Amino acid sequence: MEKGEDSSTFKMGNSAQERSLPFVPDCYVVPPSSKPCDSNSGIVPTIDVSRLKGGDDERRGIVNHGINQNILDDALEVANSFFELPAKEKKKFMSNDVYAPVRYSTSLKDGLDKIQFWRIFLKHYAHPLHRWIHLWPENPPGYREKMGKFCEEVRKLSIELMGAITESLGLGRDYLSSRMDENGMQVMTVNCYPPCPDPETALGLPPHSDYSCITLLLQNLDGLKIFDPMAHGGSGRWVGVPQVTGVLKVHIGDHVEVLSNGLYKSIVHKVTLNEEKTRISLASLHSLGMDDKMSVPRELVNDENPVRYKESSFNDFLDFLVKNDISQGDRFIDTL
Ligand code: SIN
Ligand code: FE2
Repeated sequence: MEKGEDSSTFKMGNSAQERSLPFVPDCYVVPPSSKPCDSNSGIVPTIDVSRLKGGDDERRGIVNHGINQNILDDALEVANSFFELPAKEKKKFMSNDVYAPVRYSTSLKDGLDKIQFWRIFLKHYAHPLHRWIHLWPENPPGYREKMGKFCEEVRKLSIELMGAITESLGLGRDYLSSRMDENGMQVMTVNCYPPCPDPETALGLPPHSDYSCITLLLQNLDGLKIFDPMAHGGSGRWVGVPQVTGVLKVHIGDHVEVLSNGLYKSIVHKVTLNEEKTRISLASLHSLGMDDKMSVPRELVNDENPVRYKESSFNDFLDFLVKNDISQGDRFIDTL
C-alpha cells in the first residue's frame, strides 16, 4: 500500500499486513494535542505487597506480589500466541458488543471511533472462572489453563490490595470483600500493540482512567504512560512506566476515587507504540458486580466533606461507552 492510497480497507489483526505497512493510515493519526512524544521516565511508587500481607512468614517471604514468575511468563506467552493465530481463528470471537463476555476487536470500538487506535485486544470475563472459562479461546493450546491461572492469582492480589485501600480509608479490611467475592467483576483485557511504522503519529490507547476499582497490569515492553497532574506546578506531565520483569503495575480506577470521596484519584494513562516490536499487555480490571453501584460511604461524609461523586455501576459505564465517542480520552466518572 502506498501513502495517499485509500487505506479504509486496512484492518488491524492480520499480522503480516501490519508488519508490511510502511506508514500510518489517516484514520489512526491522532491530533497534535495528543501526540505521544511528551513524556520522560519518572519515578513511579512501588508497593511491596509482602508488607501488606498478614499471615505466615513463608507467604510474606515471597518477593513482592508472590505470583510465580512462570505464571506471568506463561500468560504473556499464550497471549502472544493467540494474536499470532490466523485471522480466521481470531475472528470467531470478533464483536463490537461491549457487553459480550468474550470479545476480540480493535481500537475501542472498531470502525466507530473517530480516531482508531493501534491495538488489537481480546477481552474476557474471568470471575467466577468456572462460569466463563469454557467460552474463552481453545487455541492456542494451553490458553485457558495458563491464562486462567494468571487470572486467579491476580484476583487474589486485587482482593488483598482492595483490603489495604479500604483499611487506609478507615473502613476496615473487609469493607468490600464479600461484594467483590460474590458477584464482583474481573475483566481480563489481553492487548496486542503491533509495531507501528511511525509511533509519533498514532496511539495504542488514548488518555483514559479505568472503570474499575483497581487494575493490575503486566506488560512485556515499555509503552505505558501515566499522567502526573501535580508536576510542573500543577500543569502536569506524562511519565513513562518502564517494563521491569516480574513487576505488576497497579492502577487506581474510578471506583476507588468514588469510594474514597476523592482521597484517591484514578490514574489517567495512555499507551504509546514501538516501531519494531509487538507490545503485549494483560490488564485485569477488578470491580463490583455489573449492576452493583459504587457510592461514597457514609463514614467518609461530614460537613467539611460532602459527597463529591454520583453513584454508578460497571454497567452504567458500558452504557456510556456505547452512547459516546470516548476516543478523545473522556473520563466517565461523575462528580456532583
Ligand atoms: C489499558 O489501559 O487497558 C492497557 C494499558 C497498557 O496496555 O499498558
Ligand atoms: Fe486502562
